[in-house]
Amino acid sequence: MAAAEKTLLVDCDTGVDDAIALLYLLADPKVEVCGITTVFGNISATMAARNTLCVLDVAGRTGSVPVAVGSEVTLTGEAPVHGTHVHGSNGLGGVKLSAPAGRPETVSAAEMIVRTARERPGKVHMLATGPLTNLAVALRLEPKLPQLIAGVTIMGGAASAPGNVTPAAEANVWHDPEAAQAVFSAPWATTLVPLDATMGEVMSEQQRLSLAASRSPTARFAAAILDHYFDFYTPIFGRRSCPCHDALAAGVATGEVVPQRAMTVGITVETGCGPARGATICDLRGSYRGEQRQPGATCTVVLETSGRFAEDIVRRLVGGPGA
Ligand code: RIB
Ligand code: CA
Repeated sequence: MAAAEKTLLVDCDTGVDDAIALLYLLADPKVEVCGITTVFGNISATMAARNTLCVLDVAGRTGSVPVAVGSEVTLTGEAPVHGTHVHGSNGLGGVKLSAPAGRPETVSAAEMIVRTARERPGKVHMLATGPLTNLAVALRLEPKLPQLIAGVTIMGGAASAPGNVTPAAEANVWHDPEAAQAVFSAPWATTLVPLDATMGEVMSEQQRLSLAASRSPTARFAAAILDHYFDFYTPIFGRRSCPCHDALAAGVATGEVVPQRAMTVGITVETGCGPARGATICDLRGSYRGEQRQPGATCTVVLETSGRFAEDIVRRLVGGPGA
């Protein structure tokens, strides 16, 4: 097999779209997923690890990727609010799962992030598709982490788009605004894939049914876990469909998705207790002058992608193991 072109350490709260993102990455021969760490969010970090191990089994990758459990509470110790109404009681659409063959590592998620970064300085790219608590804890453990990590791609926030938990806040940032603020203010190259982009990448019921009809067990598993997720999004879009939030961030992280519109700007997270708590304030004022880059900024905000990414996901999963 050809050497992987990108090494990714994925931090996620394995609900439905995180699982789709993982399946998409695990089926890419150009990508090495060198570890997966889990965080509270859609469900508990422990359940997210269990779901991740199940996803590895489905992908035929049992035991090949270390999984570590991370934070169950916010950076400030607040109890979590899980998103089971969106992702189902077990985080994977309520689909009955066999017990996973693998087990999580004994190190914590933050320890695994730091260890991996130290072992392969400058080589590992992080993809975060859940609340940013583990990354914030890892930054506390190793303040030089930004110099050790090649870059960070984050699904989260809303630049000009409406929020999805409150009018102002997107779920991953809303779950732990203090952690998000710590991550956005660290001096690493960050790519944010917010709702502005992800709500424009929608999978149709026809595409889900083509996954369900596939010979690939991976594709059929994806169709099954997406069913409940489609139910949640039906009143939002007015038709059976769902956004491809976390998989889009995965596609951006690997370079397979090239943004059609992006700006490199400063980001501040609202950490007050008012109605804007968890809002990501992206300084897009340069757009009035046609500027794409704010001097000194290190965070690139993806504002628009092609709108055709669901086709790539379906093609990838239908061609997956066992097809
Ligand atoms: O707002 C979308 C994000 O929140 C995704 O990461 C999804 O998994 C949900 O948790
Ligand atoms: Ca997620």
